[in-house]
Amino acid sequence: MTLIVLKFFHYLAIIFAGGVLVGGGLIQSVFARSNQVPDKTIGKVLKILGYLGLASLIILWITGILLSNLIYGGFSINTAFTIKITAAAFLLIISFIVNIHVYNSSKNNQSPKKSIMKFSTMSARGLIIVVLFGAAIAFS
Ligand code: HEM
Repeated sequence: MTLIVLKFFHYLAIIFAGGVLVGGGLIQSVFARSNQVPDKTIGKVLKILGYLGLASLIILWITGILLSNLIYGGFSINTAFTIKITAAAFLLIISFIVNIHVYNSSKNNQSPKKSIMKFSTMSARGLIIVVLFGAAIAFS
């Protein structure tokens, strides 16, 4: 039963993290393409999406650590798994940095730096692909 609950929350968090990447990325690219900066309301939506992404990653880590220990007795599973959690660690760090940057910018009534937002969105997209390939190979 514990395993089922942990897996369920691992998968639920994947849906949320993916939704944030796709939805947030789409909003940002539409604004960037039309050379506009998101207004306050859309800025709020992006901020909430950022928090949701971070919360999902934290849930992925908590459930992932518990699953690894319960099923495999630790993190020495295989190379693909090591690559998967390394990429997941970078995702977590990026999400923390972006959330802190967005929080500080909105506190100072400034819009977040375009370069930081673009770099983090692009790398997060790449990293999630690495994590998913890693998971597919590690547990095949
Ligand atoms: C962005 C973060 C993550 C994503 C997108 C992700 C994705 C996935 C996916 C798709 C699976 C299913 C694979 C399968 O059953 O064939 C899975 C399973 C698993 N994940 Fe993650 N994961 C993430 C983070 C983590 C972390 C940080 C850990 C450990 C520290 C972890 C540990 C595990 C374990 C142990 C399983 C296998 C459970 C089993 O054998 O059924 N995951 N993950």
